[in-house]
Amino acid sequence: MSNHLDFLLEQNRRWSQSVKDHDSHFFSNLAAQQNPKYFWIGCADSRVSANEILGLLPGEVFVHRNVANVVVHSDLNCLSVLQYAVDVLRVQHILVVGHYGCGGVNAAFHNTRLGLINNWLRHVQDVRDKHRIRLATIADPARQLDRLCELNVLEQVLNLSETTIMHDAWARGQEVTLHGLIYGLEDGILHSLNMPISTDNELLSCYEAAVDRLFASEA
Ligand code: CO
Repeated sequence: MSNHLDFLLEQNRRWSQSVKDHDSHFFSNLAAQQNPKYFWIGCADSRVSANEILGLLPGEVFVHRNVANVVVHSDLNCLSVLQYAVDVLRVQHILVVGHYGCGGVNAAFHNTRLGLINNWLRHVQDVRDKHRIRLATIADPARQLDRLCELNVLEQVLNLSETTIMHDAWARGQEVTLHGLIYGLEDGILHSLNMPISTDNELLSCYEAAVDRLFASEA
């Protein structure tokens, strides 16, 4: 066990040194304040780490992750991180990032029994059930799952846009935009789902148009 910890501590020392070799003031500057432009809401999956995927250094992206990148109206944890990001840090862009091949979305889709987490994944099953008629028109189960991964992102962007935190920020004229993105594990590429939201006008029509585009690609 201690060997594993020694390995991690050694890795950390090497990383810290390499950053300091590049910029000797990096950590002292960062210790004074954080000023990230971006807030990432993503899946807890070990393969989908925000900074590395975006090529950003510590201090450049504020992060909240949970299984299947879900934004629940009553999740005090997620809402608290959001409120801090918007009201205090004043991030300019909020990225909801899903990924293809998501284990949480897959379990939700197939009703896989995993334990307590099935209660959390009910939120993803609500997304599945909301779009069940259109999902059923897709013959290939792998493509159904890809569409559900994307639909889950759009749903969470909509949920974010309907929080009091976003409504209040936009009402006072704060410039902050929500984006839905999806990441490919197989190629490391992020794709926009083209649903930028920077006002609370026409939220539902933005959402519906983005959903239509997903299914248009199946036609
Ligand atoms: Co996932």
